[in-house]
Amino acid sequence: MQEKINLIRSEILEKIDSFDSSRALYEFRKLFLDNKEGKISLLMKGLKDVPKEDRPAAGKSINELKNWALSLFEEYDARIHKLELEKKIAGEAVDVTEPAVKRRAGALHPNTMVQNELIDIFSAMGFEIYEGSEIETDYYNFTALNTPEDHPARDMQDTFYLSPGFLLRTQTSAGQIHVMEKSRPPIKILSPGKVFRSDDDATHSPMFSQMEGLVVDRGISLCDLQGMLDLFSEKIFGQGVKTRLRPSYFPFTEPSVEVDVSCFECGGKGCKLCKGTGWIEVLGAGVVNRHVLENCGIDPDEYTGFAFGMGVERIAMLKYGINNIKVLFESDTRFAEQFRD
Ligand code: DAH
Repeated sequence: MQEKINLIRSEILEKIDSFDSSRALYEFRKLFLDNKEGKISLLMKGLKDVPKEDRPAAGKSINELKNWALSLFEEYDARIHKLELEKKIAGEAVDVTEPAVKRRAGALHPNTMVQNELIDIFSAMGFEIYEGSEIETDYYNFTALNTPEDHPARDMQDTFYLSPGFLLRTQTSAGQIHVMEKSRPPIKILSPGKVFRSDDDATHSPMFSQMEGLVVDRGISLCDLQGMLDLFSEKIFGQGVKTRLRPSYFPFTEPSVEVDVSCFECGGKGCKLCKGTGWIEVLGAGVVNRHVLENCGIDPDEYTGFAFGMGVERIAMLKYGINNIKVLFESDTRFAEQFRD
């Protein structure tokens, strides 16, 4: 009997150290301590075959073996549990030094950024915002702006007609008439919005955005326009940028001018952006034609005004060095993200 006991002991001691999961240890424990089939339990059962006089001593030895095995397995089980727990905790540990996963944040479209910037600049100068409507009548878009039906200037803008007399506005200038019909001078409005022309190439899109300005009061002259433009150009294109006016023609202004700014890329020396001229054309403007004032019931002998209109995409393209207007309308979020400030 003692031999069998010693054998079981050494069998247990030989392997007990080699388990790293409580599950495996449990299976090993079962080999010895399972109530039915465990080797120690079977020894207990075999007691009945031991000669009677040896039975108490043998029973005692088996009991000692059982208690020894129980406490040994308990000790190892606790040890493995502890290791398992430590492993689990280590696996769940948060490494606070690990770089965070970057979230993709949205970005404003460069056109929106420029539009917002223009609105901020003119609002600071006291301009109020007037948003007209994209569908206009022929009268507001052309006739009242001193461009009657047979006027050659209508050919300057290829118009999308919706039905006779109704069209998609070709210019935000249409808003000037609405404002002057509804209010009396002093008037100082800025009218941003979409305009439409049947025009499509690398620098033209059938839909684009304009920003219209109108100032009407007593004694307004071209000098006021020039002064305002100087301020505006420095704010939008940078310190030191100058403006120059070139004679031009628009039916609704007299005189009419084309406004250039000195090239903010090369400082006026001549480069690719300004095509070697040192100047970049940015907008059209002029003194409001007296017929336009009359059309709106404003006395041109008492009041005068200036107006200007610019393409927002054009300003955005100049400011950010974009050479194809199409990328502004492709809705590629990667494009907008490049301009995040
Ligand atoms: N409406 C003109 C255009 O679309 C731009 C313009 C020029 C607006 C002169 C004005 C202006 O108010 O005075 O080409």
